[in-house]
Amino acid sequence: MRTHLCGELNQELAGHSVTLCGWVHARRDLGGLIFLSLRDRAGLVQVVVEPDSPAFAEAEKLRNEYCVRVRGEVRERPESQWNDDMATGRIELVALEVELLNASAPLPLLMTEEDGEEIRLKYRYLDLRRPRMQHNMRIRAALNRAIRQHLDGTGFAEFETPILTRATPEGARDYLVPSRVHGGQFYALPQSPQLFKQLLMMAGMDRYYQIARCFRDEDLRADRQPEFTQLDLEMSFVEEQDVQDLAEELIRAVFQDVLDVSLTAPFPRLSWREAMERYGSDKPDLRLPLSLVSVDEHVAHVDFKVFAGPAQTEGQRVAALRLPAAASLSRKQIDGYTEFVGRYGARGLAWIKVNDAAAGLAGLQSPIAKFLDAAAWDGIRTATGAEDGDLLLFGAGDWLVTSTFMGHLLVKAGHELGLANCDWAPLWVTDFPMFEWDADADRYLAMHHPFTAPREDDAQALRADPGGSVSRGYDMVLNGAEIGGGSIRIHRQDMQQAVFDLLGIGSDEAQDKFGFLLEALRYGCPPHGGIAFGLDRIAALMAGEESIRDVIAFPKTTTAQCLLTDAPSAVPETAMDELGIALKPRG
Ligand code: AMO
Ligand code: AMP
Repeated sequence: MRTHLCGELNQELAGHSVTLCGWVHARRDLGGLIFLSLRDRAGLVQVVVEPDSPAFAEAEKLRNEYCVRVRGEVRERPESQWNDDMATGRIELVALEVELLNASAPLPLLMTEEDGEEIRLKYRYLDLRRPRMQHNMRIRAALNRAIRQHLDGTGFAEFETPILTRATPEGARDYLVPSRVHGGQFYALPQSPQLFKQLLMMAGMDRYYQIARCFRDEDLRADRQPEFTQLDLEMSFVEEQDVQDLAEELIRAVFQDVLDVSLTAPFPRLSWREAMERYGSDKPDLRLPLSLVSVDEHVAHVDFKVFAGPAQTEGQRVAALRLPAAASLSRKQIDGYTEFVGRYGARGLAWIKVNDAAAGLAGLQSPIAKFLDAAAWDGIRTATGAEDGDLLLFGAGDWLVTSTFMGHLLVKAGHELGLANCDWAPLWVTDFPMFEWDADADRYLAMHHPFTAPREDDAQALRADPGGSVSRGYDMVLNGAEIGGGSIRIHRQDMQQAVFDLLGIGSDEAQDKFGFLLEALRYGCPPHGGIAFGLDRIAALMAGEESIRDVIAFPKTTTAQCLLTDAPSAVPETAMDELGIALKPRG
């Protein structure tokens, strides 16, 4: 039907006759001359319909989003009319024939940045026509292509693992599918292919990968969807460094291919503890030249309980954040920050405006200056590197809570002040604790998942001090987002059993849920490990989008609905009968 794509036309085609198909992006009537902006997947081109053109009558009927075919001649625009904001801005198409392929009903949305998300998701097929969304979907496709290209030829084989399966715990609730044949029984949709990829290693497949859909029933946010896509990898006979080297090389190659961006080599590394201490986050945004500084030793002696208490107590800290040249922030802005950290459990936020650093306490403007003495200020000043015009913010209390709220503040303030000093900042975070204590449930939770190996080789040692054990897990972080996580796995049955025990999974429950895994571990399981990347998150970063919804063709809302198809939905009673399911009223 067509000879070219709209966005491909250029000066070299001047004088040529071409046929294009696409949608009317915009239409302007200029006193007898009609300008159409015609759009297809490759971009936009300007079409001119002159009053004496045989196409004129048809062109007059066109409205936005009508689907048309246009035959015409490419003409170079006079230099005065060049539009270099547009790839095709130096030419236009003089229409000889316009054929209406299909009219459009009046549009339910503007198809601009102004549209709200609800209407965009309801009419997703129209929203996706927008150049920005076309671009995003193509970035995603390019990402998948680059991954496959890179992995092919490195000994990896692509596998498919079941969607109807048993629960794979990754810390979320399962989506369940009732079985018709086995009344009262349910499949679980996989939270990840974790167990199957490990079984493939036990099966001697050596190197596995899959671009895999994962399902997690959890609280959704901008960077989480109930179904999302991982690049999932697993390798046999490897240690941490082997997996990390391969993963890093892959990500570097993919960024080079898709965006022509060279990421630093090698990626910097931080232990989980260092990351929390310095950045208050297990996914620090290293584009920001900011860090938290502990000032405990300088304030332990002062007559200010808010500081002295935590400074003197094991497991607590006083952390300072220096915001360069931010002393001009208003009281209202600082109050805003106080309110913000409150959401992460802070009971307050102390601050100092450094008007004249050399003048000692007299040079400070701060509600806490009266509690400090010269030695305290001297110590704080040296530790933070405070200079005239800076704003210092302080958090005090429990080490993890304080680090975390100060970490959120670091990212928020750093970006608001426009301090990011590079485009891409990848890193590895390693040495995670094996377990985190869940005070509400009064038990340990796996920090990663229950199949991650601990540093110690000895199950007895692990049982003796679970709280102090460090895992063989690692996360890849890019620009403050966790884009991938993996680990070396447990490959011995006694260790797997010990970890289940410590997680409060009794032996009956372990047998019931993971009996097949425990059994498989008995038959010469190779040491193995791997990683999974969140492809939606990587695509969103590549596309410069805040939300992964903008790189998923048909995403769900934050309440896990598909507004286009109206899923989830009730099903007919007959279907429920077949499944032997009756609904209980919800309490
Ligand atoms: P993990 O749970 O860390 O590890 O997931 C790996 C990566 O997947 C992405 N991700 C998500 N993306 C969008 N929406 C979600 N709800 C969501 N949840 C996770 C993140 C994350 O880094 N089986 C292990 C991997 C392994 O050990 O090899 C796993 O699934 O980018
Ligand atoms: P207060 O003694 O509670 O009135 O607090 C005095 C100052 O310390 C105020 O500026 C508070 O915002 C600040 N502050 C209180 N609790 C904390 C905390 N946990 N961390 C940092 N600053 C705090």
